[in-house]
Amino acid sequence: MKIKTAVIPVAGKGTRFHPVTKVVPKELLPLVDTPILHFIVKEAALAGIERIVLITSKGKTGLVDYFDSQRDDPIFQNLSFIAVRQGDALGLGHAILCARPIVQNEPFAVLLGDDVIDGKVSATKQLIDISEKYSGAPVVGIMNVSDEDVSKYGIIEGTPIDKKTFAVKSLIEKPDLKNAPSNLAIPGRYVLTPDIFDILKDAQPGLKGEIQLTDSLNVLAKNREMYAYEFEGRRFDAGDKFGYLEANLHYGLQRKEMAEKIKSLLASLGD
Ligand code: G1P
Repeated sequence: MKIKTAVIPVAGKGTRFHPVTKVVPKELLPLVDTPILHFIVKEAALAGIERIVLITSKGKTGLVDYFDSQRDDPIFQNLSFIAVRQGDALGLGHAILCARPIVQNEPFAVLLGDDVIDGKVSATKQLIDISEKYSGAPVVGIMNVSDEDVSKYGIIEGTPIDKKTFAVKSLIEKPDLKNAPSNLAIPGRYVLTPDIFDILKDAQPGLKGEIQLTDSLNVLAKNREMYAYEFEGRRFDAGDKFGYLEANLHYGLQRKEMAEKIKSLLASLGD
Protein backbone atom coordinates (compact mmCIF):
# COMPACT_ATOMS: atom_id res chain seq x y z
CA MET A 1 0.00 0.00 0.00
CA LYS A 2 1.40 3.41 -0.96
CA ILE A 3 2.53 5.47 2.02
CA LYS A 4 0.78 8.82 1.70
CA THR A 5 1.01 10.28 5.19
CA ALA A 6 3.92 11.51 7.28
CA VAL A 7 3.48 12.30 10.96
CA ILE A 8 5.85 14.93 12.30
CA PRO A 9 5.71 15.56 16.05
CA VAL A 10 6.49 19.23 16.73
CA ALA A 11 4.87 19.75 20.12
CA GLY A 12 8.13 19.68 22.13
CA LYS A 13 9.06 22.69 24.22
CA GLY A 14 12.64 22.92 22.96
CA THR A 15 14.16 23.35 26.42
CA ARG A 16 17.62 22.54 25.07
CA PHE A 17 17.40 25.79 23.10
CA HIS A 18 16.25 28.18 25.79
CA PRO A 19 16.04 31.15 25.80
CA VAL A 20 15.25 31.51 22.07
CA THR A 21 12.61 28.76 22.13
CA LYS A 22 10.63 30.61 24.82
CA VAL A 23 9.22 32.64 21.90
CA VAL A 24 10.30 30.88 18.67
CA PRO A 25 9.44 27.20 18.02
CA LYS A 26 12.70 25.26 17.70
CA GLU A 27 11.49 23.82 14.37
CA LEU A 28 11.58 27.36 12.92
CA LEU A 29 15.22 27.96 13.86
CA PRO A 30 17.07 28.40 10.56
CA LEU A 31 19.80 26.36 8.92
CA VAL A 32 21.38 29.31 7.12
CA ASP A 33 18.02 30.92 6.15
CA THR A 34 15.64 27.96 6.00
CA PRO A 35 13.70 26.56 8.98
CA ILE A 36 14.70 23.11 10.23
CA LEU A 37 11.15 21.90 9.61
CA HIS A 38 11.41 22.86 5.93
CA PHE A 39 14.19 20.27 5.51
CA ILE A 40 12.11 17.61 7.28
CA VAL A 41 8.98 18.23 5.20
CA LYS A 42 11.07 18.34 2.02
CA GLU A 43 12.49 14.89 2.85
CA ALA A 44 8.90 13.60 3.24
CA ALA A 45 7.78 15.24 -0.04
CA LEU A 46 10.72 13.67 -1.88
CA ALA A 47 9.55 10.28 -0.58
CA GLY A 48 6.19 10.73 -2.33
CA ILE A 49 4.27 11.74 0.80
CA GLU A 50 1.08 13.69 0.07
CA ARG A 51 -0.19 14.56 3.54
CA ILE A 52 1.74 16.02 6.46
CA VAL A 53 0.28 15.63 9.94
CA LEU A 54 1.95 18.04 12.36
CA ILE A 55 1.43 17.15 16.02
CA THR A 56 1.45 20.61 17.54
CA SER A 57 0.91 22.32 20.88
CA LYS A 58 0.48 25.81 22.31
CA GLY A 59 2.71 28.40 20.60
CA LYS A 60 3.38 26.28 17.52
CA THR A 61 0.85 27.68 15.03
CA GLY A 62 3.66 29.59 13.27
CA LEU A 63 4.81 26.24 11.91
CA VAL A 64 1.60 25.73 9.99
CA ASP A 65 1.67 29.37 8.77
CA TYR A 66 5.17 28.81 7.43
CA PHE A 67 3.98 26.24 4.90
CA ASP A 68 1.23 28.60 3.66
CA SER A 69 4.11 30.87 2.64
CA GLN A 70 5.75 28.05 0.67
CA ARG A 71 2.84 27.08 -1.57
CA ASP A 72 4.63 28.27 -4.71
CA ASP A 73 7.58 25.96 -4.02
CA PRO A 74 7.13 23.06 -6.49
CA ILE A 75 8.35 20.58 -3.86
CA PHE A 76 5.47 21.46 -1.52
CA GLN A 77 2.73 22.06 -4.09
CA ASN A 78 1.12 18.63 -3.82
CA LEU A 79 1.22 18.45 -0.03
CA SER A 80 -1.70 19.05 2.30
CA PHE A 81 -1.09 19.97 5.91
CA ILE A 82 -3.12 18.95 8.92
CA ALA A 83 -2.35 20.12 12.46
CA VAL A 84 -3.41 17.93 15.38
CA ARG A 85 -3.05 19.21 18.93
CA GLN A 86 -1.25 17.25 21.60
CA GLY A 87 -2.79 18.84 24.67
CA ASP A 88 -0.57 17.14 27.24
CA ALA A 89 3.14 16.45 26.85
CA LEU A 90 2.90 12.71 27.58
CA GLY A 91 5.75 11.57 25.34
CA LEU A 92 6.59 10.69 21.73
CA GLY A 93 4.42 7.56 21.73
CA HIS A 94 1.43 9.64 22.83
CA ALA A 95 2.20 12.25 20.13
CA ILE A 96 2.05 9.54 17.46
CA LEU A 97 -1.21 8.19 18.89
CA CYS A 98 -2.73 11.69 18.44
CA ALA A 99 -2.42 11.12 14.64
CA ARG A 100 -4.68 8.04 14.70
CA PRO A 101 -7.96 9.78 13.72
CA ILE A 102 -6.22 11.12 10.59
CA VAL A 103 -4.02 8.15 9.65
CA GLN A 104 -6.67 5.53 10.50
CA ASN A 105 -5.86 2.16 8.99
CA GLU A 106 -2.96 3.02 6.67
CA PRO A 107 0.81 2.67 6.98
CA PHE A 108 2.61 5.97 7.58
CA ALA A 109 6.02 7.54 7.99
CA VAL A 110 7.28 9.33 11.11
CA LEU A 111 9.99 11.97 10.93
CA LEU A 112 11.34 13.61 14.09
CA GLY A 113 12.19 17.27 13.73
CA ASP A 114 15.46 17.21 15.66
CA ASP A 115 17.10 14.96 13.08
CA VAL A 116 18.09 16.51 9.76
CA ILE A 117 19.41 14.05 7.17
CA ASP A 118 21.16 15.14 3.98
CA GLY A 119 21.27 12.17 1.63
CA LYS A 120 21.42 11.70 -2.14
CA VAL A 121 18.05 9.97 -1.78
CA SER A 122 15.50 11.09 0.85
CA ALA A 123 16.10 8.92 3.95
CA THR A 124 12.32 8.40 4.27
CA LYS A 125 12.21 7.23 0.65
CA GLN A 126 14.97 4.72 1.44
CA LEU A 127 12.93 3.31 4.34
CA ILE A 128 9.73 3.16 2.28
CA ASP A 129 11.60 1.18 -0.40
CA ILE A 130 12.73 -1.35 2.23
CA SER A 131 9.21 -1.61 3.63
CA GLU A 132 7.91 -2.33 0.10
CA LYS A 133 10.63 -4.94 -0.40
CA TYR A 134 9.44 -6.73 2.77
CA SER A 135 5.67 -6.76 2.04
CA GLY A 136 4.84 -3.52 3.86
CA ALA A 137 6.58 -4.40 7.14
CA PRO A 138 7.50 -1.64 9.59
CA VAL A 139 11.05 -0.30 9.16
CA VAL A 140 13.18 1.91 11.41
CA GLY A 141 16.14 3.92 10.15
CA ILE A 142 19.39 3.21 11.99
CA MET A 143 22.94 4.49 12.24
CA ASN A 144 26.00 3.26 14.09
CA VAL A 145 26.87 5.41 17.12
CA SER A 146 29.82 5.49 19.50
CA ASP A 147 29.59 3.84 22.93
CA GLU A 148 29.18 7.22 24.63
CA ASP A 149 26.15 8.09 22.45
CA VAL A 150 24.24 4.81 22.91
CA SER A 151 22.27 6.17 25.90
CA LYS A 152 20.88 9.07 23.81
CA TYR A 153 18.82 6.93 21.42
CA GLY A 154 16.40 4.12 20.89
CA ILE A 155 18.62 1.09 20.18
CA ILE A 156 17.79 -2.07 18.26
CA GLU A 157 18.74 -5.69 18.68
CA GLY A 158 18.79 -7.25 15.23
CA THR A 159 19.96 -10.08 13.02
CA PRO A 160 21.82 -8.93 9.90
CA ILE A 161 20.16 -9.79 6.58
CA ASP A 162 22.61 -7.91 4.39
CA LYS A 163 25.19 -5.14 4.91
CA LYS A 164 22.57 -2.50 5.73
CA THR A 165 19.40 -4.37 6.66
CA PHE A 166 18.56 -6.10 9.94
CA ALA A 167 15.59 -8.13 11.15
CA VAL A 168 14.63 -6.44 14.42
CA LYS A 169 14.29 -8.68 17.47
CA SER A 170 13.83 -6.03 20.14
CA LEU A 171 14.21 -2.33 20.85
CA ILE A 172 15.12 -0.44 23.99
CA GLU A 173 14.85 3.29 24.72
CA LYS A 174 18.09 5.03 25.76
CA PRO A 175 19.78 2.07 27.47
CA ASP A 176 22.92 2.33 29.57
CA LEU A 177 25.86 1.07 27.55
CA LYS A 178 26.00 -2.12 29.64
CA ASN A 179 22.37 -2.97 28.79
CA ALA A 180 22.58 -1.98 25.12
CA PRO A 181 22.15 -4.88 22.68
CA SER A 182 24.10 -3.02 19.96
CA ASN A 183 25.33 0.40 18.84
CA LEU A 184 22.60 0.62 16.20
CA ALA A 185 20.60 3.74 17.04
CA ILE A 186 17.36 5.14 15.64
CA PRO A 187 17.75 8.77 14.55
CA GLY A 188 14.08 9.63 14.26
CA ARG A 189 12.92 7.96 11.04
CA TYR A 190 10.25 5.26 10.95
CA VAL A 191 7.82 3.59 8.55
CA LEU A 192 5.00 2.23 10.69
CA THR A 193 1.95 0.05 10.26
CA PRO A 194 -1.38 1.08 11.84
CA ASP A 195 -1.31 -1.84 14.32
CA ILE A 196 1.11 0.32 16.35
CA PHE A 197 -1.89 2.44 17.44
CA ASP A 198 -3.56 -0.33 19.46
CA ILE A 199 -0.25 -0.95 21.22
CA LEU A 200 0.24 2.78 21.92
CA LYS A 201 -3.32 3.07 23.25
CA ASP A 202 -2.52 0.59 26.04
CA ALA A 203 1.10 1.66 26.59
CA GLN A 204 2.30 2.45 30.09
CA PRO A 205 4.71 5.31 30.81
CA GLY A 206 8.34 4.24 30.41
CA LEU A 207 11.60 6.17 30.68
CA LYS A 208 11.11 9.64 32.25
CA GLY A 209 7.45 8.77 32.92
CA GLU A 210 6.66 9.27 29.21
CA ILE A 211 4.82 7.02 26.74
CA GLN A 212 7.80 5.97 24.65
CA LEU A 213 7.38 5.05 20.97
CA THR A 214 10.35 2.68 21.30
CA ASP A 215 8.56 0.60 23.99
CA SER A 216 5.54 0.11 21.73
CA LEU A 217 7.79 -0.72 18.77
CA ASN A 218 9.34 -3.40 20.96
CA VAL A 219 5.88 -4.94 21.43
CA LEU A 220 5.20 -4.62 17.68
CA ALA A 221 8.50 -6.40 16.90
CA LYS A 222 7.30 -9.39 18.96
CA ASN A 223 4.01 -9.50 17.00
CA ARG A 224 5.29 -9.22 13.44
CA GLU A 225 8.39 -8.91 11.28
CA MET A 226 10.13 -5.56 11.56
CA TYR A 227 13.26 -4.34 9.81
CA ALA A 228 15.99 -1.79 10.47
CA TYR A 229 17.90 -0.13 7.65
CA GLU A 230 21.17 1.77 7.80
CA PHE A 231 20.19 4.58 5.46
CA GLU A 232 22.64 6.55 3.31
CA GLY A 233 23.04 10.21 4.24
CA ARG A 234 24.66 12.53 6.73
CA ARG A 235 22.58 13.10 9.82
CA PHE A 236 22.70 16.15 12.09
CA ASP A 237 21.25 16.40 15.57
CA ALA A 238 19.73 19.84 15.09
CA GLY A 239 18.08 19.55 18.51
CA ASP A 240 21.51 19.81 20.13
CA LYS A 241 23.41 23.11 20.23
CA PHE A 242 26.61 21.76 18.69
CA GLY A 243 24.71 19.58 16.19
CA TYR A 244 22.75 22.68 15.16
CA LEU A 245 25.97 24.62 14.51
CA GLU A 246 27.35 21.67 12.53
CA ALA A 247 24.19 21.59 10.39
CA ASN A 248 24.46 25.33 9.74
CA LEU A 249 28.06 24.96 8.62
CA HIS A 250 27.20 21.94 6.46
CA TYR A 251 24.41 23.76 4.62
CA GLY A 252 26.42 26.99 4.53
CA LEU A 253 29.24 25.15 2.76
CA GLN A 254 26.71 24.12 0.09
CA ARG A 255 26.08 27.79 -0.74
CA LYS A 256 28.50 28.99 -3.41
CA GLU A 257 28.43 32.58 -2.17
CA MET A 258 29.65 31.67 1.31
CA ALA A 259 31.53 28.34 1.13
CA GLU A 260 35.01 29.88 0.75
CA LYS A 261 34.28 32.53 3.37
CA ILE A 262 33.22 29.86 5.89
CA LYS A 263 36.40 27.86 5.22
CA SER A 264 38.68 30.84 5.79
CA LEU A 265 36.68 31.93 8.82
CA LEU A 266 37.10 28.48 10.40
CA ALA A 267 40.82 28.46 9.62
CA SER A 268 41.25 31.85 11.30
CA LEU A 269 39.08 31.23 14.39
CA GLY A 270 40.93 30.39 17.54
CA ASP A 271 44.07 32.27 16.41
C1 G1P B 1 13.56 10.31 20.52
C2 G1P B 1 13.25 8.81 20.62
C3 G1P B 1 14.52 8.00 20.50
C4 G1P B 1 15.24 8.36 19.22
C5 G1P B 1 15.53 9.87 19.20
C6 G1P B 1 16.13 10.30 17.88
O1 G1P B 1 14.24 10.70 21.69
O2 G1P B 1 12.58 8.55 21.84
O3 G1P B 1 14.22 6.62 20.51
O4 G1P B 1 16.45 7.63 19.11
O5 G1P B 1 14.32 10.63 19.37
O6 G1P B 1 16.43 11.66 17.86
P1 G1P B 1 14.47 12.25 22.08
O7 G1P B 1 15.74 12.66 21.41
O8 G1P B 1 13.28 13.01 21.59
O9 G1P B 1 14.59 12.26 23.57
